Amino acid sequence: MVNDFIDEISNQEAILKAKDLSVFYGSLQAINNVTFNIPRNKIISLIGPSGCGKSTLIRCFNRMNDLIPTAKVEGEIKYNDISIYSENSDPTDIRFKIGMVFQKPNPFPKSIFENVAFGPKINGFAKDNIESIVESSLKKSALWDEVKDRLKDNGLTLSGGQQQRLCIARALAVNPDIILMDEPASALDPISTSKLEDLIQEISSNITVVIVTHNMQQATRICDYAAVMMAGENRIGELIEYGTNDSVFGNPKDERTEAYVTGRIG
Ligand SMILES: Nc1ncnc2c1ncn2[C@@H]1O[C@H](COP(=O)(O)OP(=O)(O)OP(=O)(O)O)[C@@H](O)[C@H]1O
Ligand SMILES: [Mg+2]
Repeated sequence: MVNDFIDEISNQEAILKAKDLSVFYGSLQAINNVTFNIPRNKIISLIGPSGCGKSTLIRCFNRMNDLIPTAKVEGEIKYNDISIYSENSDPTDIRFKIGMVFQKPNPFPKSIFENVAFGPKINGFAKDNIESIVESSLKKSALWDEVKDRLKDNGLTLSGGQQQRLCIARALAVNPDIILMDEPASALDPISTSKLEDLIQEISSNITVVIVTHNMQQATRICDYAAVMMAGENRIGELIEYGTNDSVFGNPKDERTEAYVTGRIG
């Protein structure tokens, strides 16, 4: 039934296509044979119990698992028509086009300005250009008004919610197509969370967002589609359901999804 839905999202609409994706850490298999298509300019939530492989899966999408020495990825991921694990794909380029925001905000120990200017500088943008990119990225991430008079302050002096928006501005500054977010709101208060949710909805007009969350209300509030992962007794995570929010939360096909979204397992 997962496959029926994958077929529904035509290849043209999909910006990312994962096929038969399995990930191993040494001899331990973390996820098995995940196949799904991610539609362009939509918000997709990735949900499931702790340890089922959500972080492992989204780290595949921009080759962040490359940074874990024991990790081995099998299968294929296509970003548009580029096979991102092929030998001629450059992980740095991929991470600019497919950015990532982590659970714990991780600004560089540099000024607010330099945090956002970092990517455009590496990409060789001119100085005037960089200033306007920094401003527009901070505006898009709804942080500009709070920091415009203190751009030289260290990014680490911001509050947690502001640091998270700074990290989003840093990701936006290189004009990504996709932003992967791994529980970006789990350390934020309700006001910062609500700002972050508004921001995610705004950027999704031209950016695809994949967001891991343990918050079912958050998933139903902001996402267009939901993907559910679950590990069986073998503790290997699989994709058990994928569909529109209405179907996954309102009329799930798999009884394990129903049990999870209603809080009976997990
Ligand atoms: N760097 C690593 N080395 C070895 N095993 C790992 C590593 N990272 C994750 N794992 C294992 O892979 C499995 C999936 O972990 P993962 O972090 O992807 O789960 P998750 O769904 O993101 O969980 P959570 O909701 O708690 O963040 C777990 O069994 C975990 O112990
Ligand atoms: Mg995780």
